[in-house]
Amino acid sequence: MELAKAARAVRENAYVPYSRFKVGAALRTPSGAVHVGCNVENVAYPEGTCAEAGAIAAMVAAGETEIAEVYVIADSAHPVPPCGGCRQKLAEFARGDVKVTLATLDGAELATTVADLLPGAFGVAHMDRA
Ligand code: THU
Repeated sequence: MELAKAARAVRENAYVPYSRFKVGAALRTPSGAVHVGCNVENVAYPEGTCAEAGAIAAMVAAGETEIAEVYVIADSAHPVPPCGGCRQKLAEFARGDVKVTLATLDGAELATTVADLLPGAFGVAHMDRA
């Protein structure tokens, strides 16, 4: 449950003056390292940067580029699905069978995969003729 704890903890740091909706994300890489992110909003771009994108940025900044597992948590009645842009970002660094757990503060968990979140994802193979 290391990922769950990490995501829950980083969620507290979310900067969300516009939506007031805090999201935390944690991902593990094959090395065992855990990288975390929270959503960060901006007056000019109130939707800001998602928690998942923050965790991915932290992973890349740490010199890693492969995701082995993801955990996302928010205070909602039902687990919150990642936005379209984050699905594509996850697909960039994770195989389709990588587990993504979407959770609520109450303890509800929905387990899915990167492929289920983004079926038919655009990838480098589609540019073979370029
Ligand atoms: N948000 C995330 O950080 N991750 C998601 O999976 C869904 C939405 C954030 C973006 C914005 O700060 C707030 O939630 C409302 O859209």
